[in-house]
Amino acid sequence: MEQIKQTLAVALGAVLGGQEIQLERPKSYEMGDLAFPCFRAAKSMGLNAAQLADHLAHNVSIAGAELVATGPYLNLRLDSENRARTVLGDFFARREDMLKPDAETILVEYSSPNIAKLFTIGHLRSTMIGHALVQVNRYLGHRALRLNHLGDWGTQFGTLLAAYKRWAEADNPKLEMDFPWADAVPEKRRSPLYRLFQLYVRFHKEEQENESMRGEAREWFRRLETGDAEARRLWEWFREISLSEFQRVYDRLGVAFDAMDGESFYSDKLALTVDALQGSGLLEDGEGGSRIIRLEDVGIHTPCIVLKGDGSSIYATRDLAAGLYRKSRYAFDKCIYVVGSDQVLHFQQVFAVLDKLDTWFKGRMVHTPFGMVKLPEGKMSTRAGNVIFLEDVLDEAVSRVLDIIEDKNPGLPDKHHVAEMLGMGAVVFFDAMNDRVKPITFTWDRIIALDGDTGPYVQYAHARICSVLRKAGGDWIDLVRPTCSLGPDTAIIPFCEVEVPPALGGLSDKSAHSLLYELAGLHDAICSVRRENMATALARQLVSISKAFSGFYTNCPILTGDNTEADRRARLSLCVATARALRQGLWLMGINAPEEM
Ligand code: ARG
Repeated sequence: MEQIKQTLAVALGAVLGGQEIQLERPKSYEMGDLAFPCFRAAKSMGLNAAQLADHLAHNVSIAGAELVATGPYLNLRLDSENRARTVLGDFFARREDMLKPDAETILVEYSSPNIAKLFTIGHLRSTMIGHALVQVNRYLGHRALRLNHLGDWGTQFGTLLAAYKRWAEADNPKLEMDFPWADAVPEKRRSPLYRLFQLYVRFHKEEQENESMRGEAREWFRRLETGDAEARRLWEWFREISLSEFQRVYDRLGVAFDAMDGESFYSDKLALTVDALQGSGLLEDGEGGSRIIRLEDVGIHTPCIVLKGDGSSIYATRDLAAGLYRKSRYAFDKCIYVVGSDQVLHFQQVFAVLDKLDTWFKGRMVHTPFGMVKLPEGKMSTRAGNVIFLEDVLDEAVSRVLDIIEDKNPGLPDKHHVAEMLGMGAVVFFDAMNDRVKPITFTWDRIIALDGDTGPYVQYAHARICSVLRKAGGDWIDLVRPTCSLGPDTAIIPFCEVEVPPALGGLSDKSAHSLLYELAGLHDAICSVRRENMATALARQLVSISKAFSGFYTNCPILTGDNTEADRRARLSLCVATARALRQGLWLMGINAPEEM
């Protein structure tokens, strides 16, 4: 379809004298496969859009297609045969994983959990949105790098060190036992990392009433910042405990990172950053001896604090250092921060300061905020201790799916593995279907339903096609299997090259063309993920494809009936293209598609 788009754009450009041609997709294939909205071009030519559309319909011609003016739009409608051949061809060619000649370098910073805390459901949103952005950029031939800005530095480590000294060091130094003072812990959570988290929560609670504890925590952070051996040793150990736990979760989610330079990585680069800010005359005195940068002139009324009164750095200082470091290390075109909407102000400040310091940053820094996730019970907060842990949500989804499998298909081989794929898919897909910015509330029945706009619905469509292909015999099923195993670094699923059948008469039904039309929309949906920095368009398109497949499956018998061999082959080919589209689309979102469920 890209080729036809190009041909049409060139032909239109010739008539319109080199104006930029933006093509869209009409609402349905009955209207056409491509649409050119004439408004802008007409305006610049002093015509009305409908007149221009009409003029173009009479003066442009494309082989194998019909050009029709529909109000202010010029629609291109492919001949049926041509549509089928073009769309199948798109999915049957072998796609190479390679950079575009004008590839951009995109940094995507996501996940970024805090050491000594557990993954929360908010980190899942960041992780999976970030993963999808990376995958989509890579799929489209850009260089995308995966950065994890671990929260492994800051005053909270003072809290943690102080809490460890108080309540663990003497009788639970390796954090191997449950604390007698804490509530009973569920079996799966009895880990050193969880105990660190319990220490943190307890300290935080008690310091509210006990001012001196705050001083204690501050003192420990000061020792950490000045390189005190004991503080450093404990901090390293806390970090290690956390990282191994995080890795387990990342493996489960199928994600990986190119760099895990956390906040601590910048601790030796802060002085240089502060010097640069000082040198450019941006730093001013703030309250209590702090050093700040005023941003009123760019419409931000809260100044960015760079150094606290006691000279220590804060979260923003480390982000400023990270920005400068990334500029010199990666010379990126764009740096996308996938972080919750509660940090909007923080990023406005950081980006504004970087812009002031160096105009190179202008337009390159992007925060893609996302809303909080709620369970029906209410909001979560790590400090209060009533958090929603990521793994609990995944486990819950998987166990609910397993119940359904036990009920509907108890003989399914590899049940647990399939349940894991479906449960994960359900949660991640639900997340993507929702507007990125609004808060979302989890409603289990809606998330795992097989018959709504859900991940399992799309996965089910894929599995149903696989079952048809298996029954078709021969090597049909192999055509929808990757030619080598997939890993977190794979963006484009390697499928083998297939020949488009010579006769496509078996695809003359309307339902087949609806499906072809939806398949052709996959590429646009993927481009829109890159443009909008959210996976919603892709998730929706996968649902549309699945629905269209269901219509095709009902109306066009594939293996049954008195199909000719040619019709059977044409229809199976459409099945292959659909399964590939679904599997590839889900994969970009970080979701696996089982062959059976
Ligand atoms: N660690 C932070 C958190 O869990 C997110 C870090 C976001 N990234 C950044 N560059 N500040 O809330």
